[in-house]
Amino acid sequence: MGTKAVFLLLALLSFSAVSLRSALAENEEDPGLVMNFYKDTCPQAEDIIKEQVKLLYKRHKNTAFSWLRNIFHDCAVQSCDASLLLDSTRKTLSEKEMDRSFGMRNFRYIENIKEAVERECPGVVSCADILVLSGRDGVVALGGPYIPLKTGRRDGRKSRAEILEQYLPDHNDSMSVVLERFAAIGIDAPGLVALLGSHSVGRTHCVKLVHRLYPEVDPALNPDHVPHMLHKCPDAIPDPKAVQYVRNDRGTPMVLDNNYYRNILDSKGLMMVDHQLATDKRTRPYVKKMAKSQDYFFKEFSRAITILSENNPLTGTKGEIRKVCNLANKLHDKS
Ligand code: HEM
Ligand SMILES: *[C@@H]1O[C@H](CO)[C@@H](O)[C@H](O)[C@H]1NC(C)=O
Repeated sequence: MGTKAVFLLLALLSFSAVSLRSALAENEEDPGLVMNFYKDTCPQAEDIIKEQVKLLYKRHKNTAFSWLRNIFHDCAVQSCDASLLLDSTRKTLSEKEMDRSFGMRNFRYIENIKEAVERECPGVVSCADILVLSGRDGVVALGGPYIPLKTGRRDGRKSRAEILEQYLPDHNDSMSVVLERFAAIGIDAPGLVALLGSHSVGRTHCVKLVHRLYPEVDPALNPDHVPHMLHKCPDAIPDPKAVQYVRNDRGTPMVLDNNYYRNILDSKGLMMVDHQLATDKRTRPYVKKMAKSQDYFFKEFSRAITILSENNPLTGTKGEIRKVCNLANKLHDKS
């Protein structure tokens, strides 16, 4: 081997050692999402959240529906970055003001949890992680499965209302659109079917239902369910000031269970997407399986929530740890 070749070899070796070392350093700084991310910086974090969820749930049962719905509306829109929680600013309209976010409520209880965490560990735990973990613990309060989830998400600085419709399907979109949107974030047909099982709790306002009742009743609706829906939604154009809604699952409205699948197989699904889930040949087999087996529903639900909650997170040095969940730090520091 000539001197030149030896030199080249040495250069190559040291270069790869350097790049290996910097790759490792980068990894140390940004492990991505991991189990128990706060074990050194705020070991009590997950327990505080769990405790707060229990306390708040006792006083305001329906806040558990909101925590669960939050995971979908935050994570499915680009990233689990708590952008859903941001208020509008002078320049931008926030996601929660849009029609796709209609009916979303109880945001102040997320702030309560954040305050409790901040008292113990100021500036450490992200709103994005609090959003996901409160949803996880809310599922348990509703009788659903306990889902171990990773943490380490950081908070985004912006909420972009104008991109919402690209990511969140509407209540009357076709199953092809719905399947496509979920596939784009790695959720397959059984995963989608399981996630929509969330419509086993909570409510749907009449504005999202009246097109199935007026001017004519949708013949696809179970005639036994129609009188109840008409009773709850007596006007073709609901009074925007009256809070008129139908419970998603009349049988067990407070429990996350597989009754939803029996309802939709019985044509008692409220929204078009619920109804289509039971009739489309791509999803119907899983609906039938989940109607029969709560275990299968819970298994698929846990798998799909995990994928959803890991959608494109901000980690490492990206984003920030918000001081309060409804404001980016830049705006918080000004006020
Ligand atoms: C195709 C997908 C979906 C569509 C079109 C959709 C649409 C809707 C609509 C229109 C409502 C009624 C809101 C109201 O009137 O107050 C609702 C409620 C709800 N959704 Fe979904 N949703 C979808 C998927 C999901 C997923 C994946 C989850 C959870 C992981 C979820 C959780 C909930 C919950 C818990 C409620 C009840 C909220 C409450 O009572 O405050 N939804 N959804
Ligand atoms: C879905 O419903 C909305 C009202 O919530 C309506 O504006 C829209 O045209 C409907 N879309 C379809 C595809 O029927």
